Amino acid sequence: MCGIVGAVAQRDITPILVEGLKRLEYRGYDSCGVALYINGQLKRTRSTQRVAELEALIKEDNFSGFTGIAHTRWATHGAPATHNAHPHFSGQDKGEPRIALVHNGIIENHDELRDELKALGYAFESQTDTEVIAHLINHLYNGDLFETLQQAVRRLEGAYALAVFCRDEPHRVVGARQGSPLVVGLGNNENFLASDALALAGTTDQIIYLEDGDVIDLQLSKVWIIDSHGKPVERRVHTVHAHTAAADLGPYRHYMQKEIFEQPRAVGDTLQDIDNITPDLFGDDAYKIFKDIDNILILACGTSFYAGLTAKYWIESIARIPVNVEIASEYRYRDSVPNPKSLVVTISQSGETADTLAALKHARSLGMEHTLTICNVQTSAMVRECKLNFITRAGVEIGVASTKAFTTQLVGLFLLTLALAQVKGRISEEKEADYLKQLRHLPTAISAVLALEPQIMAWADRFASKENALFLGRGMHYPIALEGALKLKEISYIHAEAYPAGELKHGPLALVTEHMPVVTIAPNDELIEKLKSNMQEVRARGGELYVFADNDSKIVNSEGMHVIRMPEHYGKLSPILHTIPLQLLSYHAACVRGTDVDKPRNLAKSVTVE
Ligand code: F6R
Repeated sequence: MCGIVGAVAQRDITPILVEGLKRLEYRGYDSCGVALYINGQLKRTRSTQRVAELEALIKEDNFSGFTGIAHTRWATHGAPATHNAHPHFSGQDKGEPRIALVHNGIIENHDELRDELKALGYAFESQTDTEVIAHLINHLYNGDLFETLQQAVRRLEGAYALAVFCRDEPHRVVGARQGSPLVVGLGNNENFLASDALALAGTTDQIIYLEDGDVIDLQLSKVWIIDSHGKPVERRVHTVHAHTAAADLGPYRHYMQKEIFEQPRAVGDTLQDIDNITPDLFGDDAYKIFKDIDNILILACGTSFYAGLTAKYWIESIARIPVNVEIASEYRYRDSVPNPKSLVVTISQSGETADTLAALKHARSLGMEHTLTICNVQTSAMVRECKLNFITRAGVEIGVASTKAFTTQLVGLFLLTLALAQVKGRISEEKEADYLKQLRHLPTAISAVLALEPQIMAWADRFASKENALFLGRGMHYPIALEGALKLKEISYIHAEAYPAGELKHGPLALVTEHMPVVTIAPNDELIEKLKSNMQEVRARGGELYVFADNDSKIVNSEGMHVIRMPEHYGKLSPILHTIPLQLLSYHAACVRGTDVDKPRNLAKSVTVE
């Protein structure tokens, strides 16, 4: 999704802006641009290509400057075209641009503002909601950009992170945050703004996380923040050790492959320092809150939603607490029946997903105060907004498709299951110790599954020529089938759907022919005989089965039935292990098809708009 970098310094900042954009590339974008103050004028370069292309254009134009802003855009209002790319300019006096602005988020009242500004004589050169803000600021400009921005944001409805500078105040960049992340990076006689601290890695590790409603004034040796009540405010400075190493591919072809292979480490790190199960893993008040609640509401999007669906099976069967799992973008607008005794659990890799944050706020507005998040980013809005949290230690995930974030979320959710079961008195000490032992063995078990890569690559070759695929699972492996189908469609663009295997005969079986590959997750659990019958239904219609089976499930290779054996049967934690081969299958199918694996078309890493 969109990314922002801004700087005010006494040296040429173009390398900092370009490097920042490169660090944000993984989030997904379709155009990019940079604007600088150069010799009394505002200059900009924009491109619908990659940041490397923009960098070449900057060199060609011989751009350098000490104040500027840069942006990667993921189109919402207006096509991905150069004239819609940020920075946007405004300036009616003498026809010269005076204001330069970049924006993440969506301005909901842009139509109304555009009409107003058109009536004042402003001409629009883009279809974006962003250009409206540039003209609004230019219209209100009174010689003090910081004051003007404070006035301007009062007119904006929606979500935004803004960075703005003005030709008439060349040593100043101002910004504002409402609903979209924005951080300040502190330097020595230079200061920076960015939508993510990662963008400033290597430039500064002194980071301030702005809060909703903050407006910020950035000068060479001064950073001034006004909060949502218009009062000056001091925000804590964090020392952030950004994961520069995450940007190195090492021996891998893509970040997604690297991140799949990092899972033993990511799961191990997530379990590090956990000597026993205790509600304190989720925060100081967890015991009291877990005691009080009588049901759980899980809110999330995409892959994180599937982690929530898996957790429902665990929590209901082990902790015996009823669980509802809802897609955040649905829940936030649904007329639901609130229960103040619910534990509201949000799951999010980024901790900035707009729909999940809005769903959380909606739940709270309905009187549900017990909130917990499973999140991969300690400093994110989600962690700040929830009373309790568990931080997964997947490390920065650069591939747009979630892999190690998902498996570490599952680890966090399993720990939550055990802690809830303990507080509710529904698990014996022996059983708890047994589960903890299994969790500790997970990194080794995942490594053994990763060793299946060559066999999975052979399957991927056959998959690559297909345009459709079905995924089947039963019980707690049904959400894993959903995740497998999502992974395949998002990176290889093969249309894939997942069903609980028992549901096949109620409709989807009509799709099964000899051209339809059917991926089946077949662990040797209490549903295996039922699943075998479902597989026969597929074979009888000529469908080709690709089965991940346990050693002892007595499913063997035969005509139309391809079997890969999982190294070990893993009981309740089996969904985590079965995720791995599905990630590898999607990854290699996408490689054979030659898609842009790490940056699939139309998608963004951190979805900060509704
Ligand atoms: C798919 C994927 C997305 C995210 C979803 C939620 O591979 O990554 O479906 O899971 O956009 O993102 P987070 O977890 O950051 O809230």
